Amino acid sequence: MKEYTDYDLSGANTFRMKVRCARYIQYDNAKELESIDWDSLPRPVRHIGGGSNLLFTGDFPGTLLHSGISYVKYVDMGFDDVPVMAGAGVRFDDFVENVCRNGLWGAENLSGIPGEVGAAAVQNIGAYGVEVKDIIKGVVCFDTRTRSMVKFQTCECDYGYRDSLFKHSDGRYIVTAVLFRVSRVHGPRLEYKGVRESLGLGPEDSGESLTPMQVREAVMSLRNSKLPDPEVLGSAGSYFKNPVVDAVTFARVIDIARREFGADVTVPHFILGGGMVKIPAAWLIDRCGLKGVREGGAAVYERQPLVIVNASGSATPSDVLALETRVIAGVRNRFGIELHPEVEHL
Ligand code: EPU
Repeated sequence: MKEYTDYDLSGANTFRMKVRCARYIQYDNAKELESIDWDSLPRPVRHIGGGSNLLFTGDFPGTLLHSGISYVKYVDMGFDDVPVMAGAGVRFDDFVENVCRNGLWGAENLSGIPGEVGAAAVQNIGAYGVEVKDIIKGVVCFDTRTRSMVKFQTCECDYGYRDSLFKHSDGRYIVTAVLFRVSRVHGPRLEYKGVRESLGLGPEDSGESLTPMQVREAVMSLRNSKLPDPEVLGSAGSYFKNPVVDAVTFARVIDIARREFGADVTVPHFILGGGMVKIPAAWLIDRCGLKGVREGGAAVYERQPLVIVNASGSATPSDVLALETRVIAGVRNRFGIELHPEVEHL
């Protein structure tokens, strides 16, 4: 275990905010968590993963913990369903590559997502029709209240769209490992037009000769064409959640869109259960003319306006927050819809 005081967080957040924290602890196994003198730590105490879905709103006055638990273990290869245990500190995409290389299905649509395994399970990351909860069998945590290990079945994790029990536990649970369930049974998920196009598949093609690795490569090239590479341009991926609205609100958005942009405009949307509709926030932001707008060093990314980028390389937390406020107000004023950040503010 390594402990630092007044730690520079520039390398610990993909937004590349130049901020510091009072204490930073990097641990390598779950046992080390039990040995921490919790009562003596500067507060608040929070856990971070790869820092790829975080906005530090300033220097962090408390303690940040980071997992270095980095094993990937195939528990049993004997059946169609293959359980794989991965430490919370494994780069999520290394896990995805590992299972794809072994010809196993389930994780390939989640290729190229930055961040680590623990944070993936907390946040229920998702892309191209798959959410990580679909391949999670269980989550192992350290309970900072009882100072003991606890296991959750997937059904106990309250998973929702970018949401879980762990997001609302006020730092109580620290994910130490995730038990995944991937499969030998051929099962590409090709509902997304973009994925099919990237694979060069026609509308009738079922993709029966595909391998998980081929789907992975197609997903990666699709992502790279739309999303900024955090190595090159600081960002935290999607900054806002896609709003989920009821049918009445959706009808109102259509009316507004027709009035503003002409009768033939179509509002992209995905029908969810219970009469609810998900509207891409990227479309709403785009239609407010907010693509490329800047506040200080922060900008709405031109190619995917759901993303806010550190355009100058020296954007400050207040630049990003000012831009967040401007985008939320713009969408509210035009469409009467409230956007909510997906990125966690610390
Ligand atoms: N759009 C525009 N203008 C643009 C770009 C996009 O109008 O300039 C509209 C289009 O209608 C497009 C729609 O936005 O069809 C949706 O865009 P896209 O399919 O690229 O994805 P998204 O809904 O914006 C979500 C996730 C991404 C994930 C993609 C792919 C959230 C908040 N984001 O984005 O996740 O990769 O779907 O499945 O749910 C992340 O969470 O960091 C992330 C990148």
